[in-house]
Amino acid sequence: MSVDGPAGQPFRTIMDVARGILEPAGGVDAFRASSLRSLVADAASLEAMIRRGNPLVYSVATSRVPRGAGEIGFAVTSIEPGRVGSEFFMTRGHVHQRPEGEVYVRLSGAGGVVLRRGSVTRWVELSDSCVLSIPPGWAHRAVNVAAEPFRFLAVYPADLVNDYRAVEAAGMGARIVAARVGYRVVAADGLDLAGPSGSRTRPAGFVEFHAPPRRRNRP
Ligand SMILES: [Fe+2]
Repeated sequence: MSVDGPAGQPFRTIMDVARGILEPAGGVDAFRASSLRSLVADAASLEAMIRRGNPLVYSVATSRVPRGAGEIGFAVTSIEPGRVGSEFFMTRGHVHQRPEGEVYVRLSGAGGVVLRRGSVTRWVELSDSCVLSIPPGWAHRAVNVAAEPFRFLAVYPADLVNDYRAVEAAGMGARIVAARVGYRVVAADGLDLAGPSGSRTRPAGFVEFHAPPRRRNRP
């Protein structure tokens, strides 16, 4: 939970990218394997992982920006390397309760974001100096596809409210799973959409597809 900074006063924060922490810090929220219950495809592997020690999946280091209206908050998310079955470690995923956007700035590691609005799902890779704009109304879930922590800076309205239930109920429309080399984007119906170089019809790192009609979309 965040600790408020000095209201109305400018202040600076140092990002320790190597460790995924902020100084001064607001707080750090840790999400272990048990936080992914009902979200992964391979529930049996997840339960086995929880029994073996319930490892850390990701953490969110929050700034000291006050949560008041008009304030711009920021946080560093670190997703650990790992998989549940073939599915790469990921954040729980949420949509903002109010129509508010967010910006992700990749800091280190390799990963991307699954985004969904209605029947449309997108996968966007974040590498090098990528900055991702998440418009209002898009659910989003970040995924680590490599063997080191994937870290990114999120910038958002400080008083936003995250809705996790929509993702728990409907999924994101796609999963990111291990391939012989790299990863694959797998849609709700099991269709293999793209390898690490992206789809054949879009620029690398950008995949868009629509949920199949008249089928429940809960990957
Ligand atoms: Fe968000």
